[in-house]
Amino acid sequence: MGITFPTPKENTERLRRLPQVRRWRDGDYTPGAWLTAPSTEQGGAWGSWGNSVTPGRRGITFMDVNKADKSGVPATGPGLTVDRSGGAAPEQPRYQYQMREKYECWSDNLESLLEEALSRQWYASTDIPWDKLEPLPPDQERALCQFVTFLHVVEFNPTDVIPYWMTRIDPAFSEARLFLATQCADESRHMEVFGKRLFANGGGPGVEPFAHAVMHPVPPHLMAVPQETLKLLQGKGPGYEFLQYNYQTQLLGESLVLDFFRFGEFLGRNPCDKEIFRRVLQDEARHVSYGTMHIKYYLEHAPKAERERALELLHYLAAASEAGGAGYDLLLNPNVIEPFVYLAAGSMDNIEQGWQYAREFWVKVVEEYLGRCERAGFPRWDTCLLPREAPF
Ligand SMILES: [Fe+2]
Ligand SMILES: [Fe+2]
Repeated sequence: MGITFPTPKENTERLRRLPQVRRWRDGDYTPGAWLTAPSTEQGGAWGSWGNSVTPGRRGITFMDVNKADKSGVPATGPGLTVDRSGGAAPEQPRYQYQMREKYECWSDNLESLLEEALSRQWYASTDIPWDKLEPLPPDQERALCQFVTFLHVVEFNPTDVIPYWMTRIDPAFSEARLFLATQCADESRHMEVFGKRLFANGGGPGVEPFAHAVMHPVPPHLMAVPQETLKLLQGKGPGYEFLQYNYQTQLLGESLVLDFFRFGEFLGRNPCDKEIFRRVLQDEARHVSYGTMHIKYYLEHAPKAERERALELLHYLAAASEAGGAGYDLLLNPNVIEPFVYLAAGSMDNIEQGWQYAREFWVKVVEEYLGRCERAGFPRWDTCLLPREAPF
């Protein structure tokens, strides 16, 4: 509006006056540092020159690349616009990514998880044997669709928030960003496959799983948990918040969903339903593994004061979730657990058996959750507030 743009002729003139353009126009084609810079070992800026990677049985994996890279993954991301050991121009301003510490996003199994994620992407339209889907008795189809309605809804959660973290991680840790990208792809595919399953057999989406009327109420004194968490997070930055996300979504929420998927595979009545659950289960196991192993990495590598605060935060969040927040209350949500029980029972005649199965499921879910807390480095065997036996 207030800006006057040059004419095309003026603009061309301006470009011709650029020093490098003038040089080329004068016939001076001498190459720059990109051709002549020595490697870091020789005192130059071309960090990785000479680190060749030998392809293995599986081609060139991130494990192979990182093993060959003598400079390795840095502890702190430099905010470079070139890859980690590239020739950074000293005068170039750096972008200060909010998560620039390796411990804020890394896990020991990150590269192998990423490789697995990349090699096991699948296509819901054709990789599921939809032609083997069989008509179910109407009550079973309704129970399955209600259960799948819940699974469909929860897939939205990670894709709502993962891109937020991706944009904050220093590109030196591209493996973490790429892994989160594969998780977004996985969750989107889960939404797709559950959405397609809802309609495939004439069932369709059921009732709203998270309507307030069916959720068990959070005790009033725990309503303040988000504010208290915010206080713990105050001034700590996204790396610390990512830890919170890893506990609440990747470790607690997704591990419960993973257990549900396992159950779905067991209960599927035909090769189509079994294959859907088998596929999503494989993907979901990676998300839970990353969440668990990232927390472990954080607790093992963060500076001591950070680690202590992080432990305090994790135990606090865990107690809050166990006592009344998100997570295990799914197992008390009638719109989730009733269809689950019904599927396990097969019919109303057998319903007591279905509830018995749900009780065993509760015990298993809590055990697995506690096992994951321990593997992540904040054992809660003695402090967990969840009943070890189902309260129903
Ligand atoms: Fe998922
Ligand atoms: Fe997931």
